[in-house]
Amino acid sequence: MTHRVAVIAGDGAGPEVIAEARKAVDAFGLDLEWHDLDWGTDHYHRHGAMMPADAIATVRAHDAILLGAVGDPSVPDHITLWGLLLPLRQGLDLYANLRPARLLDGVPSLLAGRPPVDMLFVRENTEGEYSGVGGRAHQGLDLEVGIETSVFTRAGVRRVVERAFALAEERHGVLTSATKSNASRYGYVLWDEVVEELHADHPGVKVERVLVDALAARMISSPQSLDVVVASNLFGDILTDLAAVLQGGMGMAASASLGAGGVAMFEPVHGSAPDIAGQGIANPLGAIWSAVLMLEHLGERDAAARLMGAVEGVCREGILTRDVGGSASTNEVGDAVAARVAA
Ligand code: NAI
Ligand code: MG
Repeated sequence: MTHRVAVIAGDGAGPEVIAEARKAVDAFGLDLEWHDLDWGTDHYHRHGAMMPADAIATVRAHDAILLGAVGDPSVPDHITLWGLLLPLRQGLDLYANLRPARLLDGVPSLLAGRPPVDMLFVRENTEGEYSGVGGRAHQGLDLEVGIETSVFTRAGVRRVVERAFALAEERHGVLTSATKSNASRYGYVLWDEVVEELHADHPGVKVERVLVDALAARMISSPQSLDVVVASNLFGDILTDLAAVLQGGMGMAASASLGAGGVAMFEPVHGSAPDIAGQGIANPLGAIWSAVLMLEHLGERDAAARLMGAVEGVCREGILTRDVGGSASTNEVGDAVAARVAA
């Protein structure tokens, strides 16, 4: 069956890195159709919305979405994010955001002694601190108030923690759950309780509950002590930028947003990188690694493994962009990956 992939290249460096991910996938000659969607900040300037009103129905007709990033200095970030990215994650109920963080051979480490880094973050992706519940009162006045409410549902926590347990069983049988259930005493306490409940169904997994601030410190002091980490939307967001740096930098990190089935979304962790966009120097490996996750989702396991092998190969040979210590262009890295796939 033909794989149907919707492409939202987006803004800034998004289109540059997505072009390289497509090039790498195309080198396999799979039965795969790309459907370009011109959504993003240009669409906003032309039509007053980041994407059309029937966007969810459009992407639902696909097996996967490959997304670059959205965000441009010409529009406030909360408008671009709430106009496209968050409605897609929530509207498609893509509740689990998987973010592997592995330091590949050949990629410089920012930590002394180069400790090994091989973690898998499972971030809750549809509720928590990014539920979009809240409001503002007394707007423009001195007594103005902004209220941002975190929403944790038992079902919402359960499904993402369940997924994390399953992944921990596939890997090394260790699961770390990050909350802040000492100072915040409702949502994160519910989260902790759900982790305990599900642990009973997965007695073979070693579970540790760590407060998120301590976990951030531990990611630096002993990253090798962590494997699968499950966290809320906000904490997962912050911890995975840190994890990206541990694997070489923002340009290296990949993600998959998965639901219960159907269409899933694949995107590098980084944003639109306006500071380097248009210069041909953005690192495409996070986007290409996201394409690896997409191929796995599409059931193309051999292609996924070969593409990951190609990414590892170019890193080992030092064909890297400058953010990870090399001097290659975006294009040259993408060409090198595609050449290894075709070979
Ligand atoms: P960013 O990830 O775009 O950039 C942070 C730093 O990492 C910058 O110095 C940038 O040059 C560098 N960087 C990012 N991607 C890189 C790559 N592929 N190769 C080399 N260096 C790279 O985050 P920032 O600056 O906070 O946000 C920029 C814009 O992106 C904002 O409008 C923000 O809202 C948006 N954003 C969008 C996301 C998405 O669509 N998924 C995620 C994060 C931010
Ligand atoms: Mg982020």
